[in-house]
Amino acid sequence: MSQGEVLRSGRSEHPHGTRTAHLRERGVVFFRDTHLADLRHFLTEWTSPYVHPHETQPGLTLIEPRGATGRGEDGFSREDMGLHTDRATSRTPPSIVALLVLQSPRSGGEALLMDGAELLRSIPDIGTRDAKNDFFLGAGSRVLFPVCEEAGGRGFVRIRYRCDDIARPVALGKASGRALDDIENLRRARRFPLPLGTGCIIHNHRYLHGRTRFEGGRSIARILADVDPGFSLSWLNTGFRY
Ligand SMILES: [Fe+2]
Repeated sequence: MSQGEVLRSGRSEHPHGTRTAHLRERGVVFFRDTHLADLRHFLTEWTSPYVHPHETQPGLTLIEPRGATGRGEDGFSREDMGLHTDRATSRTPPSIVALLVLQSPRSGGEALLMDGAELLRSIPDIGTRDAKNDFFLGAGSRVLFPVCEEAGGRGFVRIRYRCDDIARPVALGKASGRALDDIENLRRARRFPLPLGTGCIIHNHRYLHGRTRFEGGRSIARILADVDPGFSLSWLNTGFRY
């Protein structure tokens, strides 16, 4: 983790403070020495849970290895998990994904993060009105959603991605082919070790995330949420500008 992105958690810090400033400007904020109760307390001050079928409590899912995994459940294995957007095939994915390590593995299990804003700045053609529909998620013969789409006007865009047995990317153009190649080969992804008590809050419309394979037990608390209307960061629910 780079200097300045590592922030200590604490109940005394107001949600309008440094942590949300990082989320606004960089699309991700890291924290450490954090308990699940602290993270939930922090999030409840400015977000509401996003319902997920695997959740054990509103918005909260424990991501742990299971004996057998079904369709779209790669997260519950020990294998590599490629870059993706949580709930990518929902019409409106959650804007906030918070991850906290409750048990760290013997080895591996690093977080992978790729900034969609950086991708669009580097390959701007995939973000244009004419080109965006040549890069989409498909399921069989069905076209689901553009990987990059304009959202809500005013220059906001949103990225979504997954590549598994639920949906796969299709890139028909030159620029989208380059972008897909970058994503598949993790060219713009950064790796972050996540020891016990560390984690991150990700702007899910902007960042793709994944993880490397690991050995041993690993338990991650994942909280999906949307920003409350009226809070200063409610535009995160729409997308991002780049
Ligand atoms: Fe995920």
